[in-house]
Amino acid sequence: MSLQFPLAEDPTPEDLEAGRLFFARETTFLKGVVAMAGLPPGNRPEVCFAGRSNVGKSSLINALTGRKNLARSSNTPGRTQEINFFEAGQDAYVVDLPGYGYAEAPKKIVEKWQALLKQYLSGRANLRRAFVLIDMRHGIKAVDEEILAMLDKSAVTFQVVLTKTDKVNAATREANLAQVREALTKHPAAYPEIVVTSSEKGEGIPTLRAIIAALARVS
Ligand code: GTP
Ligand code: MG
Repeated sequence: MSLQFPLAEDPTPEDLEAGRLFFARETTFLKGVVAMAGLPPGNRPEVCFAGRSNVGKSSLINALTGRKNLARSSNTPGRTQEINFFEAGQDAYVVDLPGYGYAEAPKKIVEKWQALLKQYLSGRANLRRAFVLIDMRHGIKAVDEEILAMLDKSAVTFQVVLTKTDKVNAATREANLAQVREALTKHPAAYPEIVVTSSEKGEGIPTLRAIIAALARVS
């Protein structure tokens, strides 16, 4: 039997170049949104980054764009509390979602985020794919299952991006990859390939750029 949920194939040189060019253009912060009414018109392709607080969403956006402080990244979990829209070369949106699973966050705020997240994920027709970031050190946890279920329900294709791979040894990497693959078999909306990344070391960044550029091209 062939392996389910293999790692994303290396992009062709053409796709790599398209990805490089896509993020070589200026990516600018458009706006932070706290309610559905604030969403910019869905008139261009969009991808979003979801994941538990501190998993590395903002760092990944910084790595993709090659700009250290574009998406604020920090050591303080729960820092990104708005849906942050970035314009990639004016023909696509890249979206940084608020992190979930931050235990210290007040219940009221958590409920508000969850409601907004749910509305956004189920109501955004131009959303081409959700990238769900999973910490390579931990694999898929119960808090992640909630958003994966939400994505299944909304029929939004999601692709798992493993983060912080520079922090694990080869054995942990393989063990947690196996755990992730097993968990994904239960999710019909899961895209069948996984991307392994390190924003710190640059691993997987050119591949992810190529994937996003290809998604933005499809009309
Ligand atoms: P919230 O906005 O709170 O949801 O967090 P986030 O998912 O945006 O995480 P963020 O990018 O702020 O990163 C959290 C911490 O992890 C920061 O201290 C980053 O420097 C660190 N970090 C992120 N990516 C990597 C990585 O690939 N390798 C290593 N070693 N550290 C990373
Ligand atoms: Mg963030």
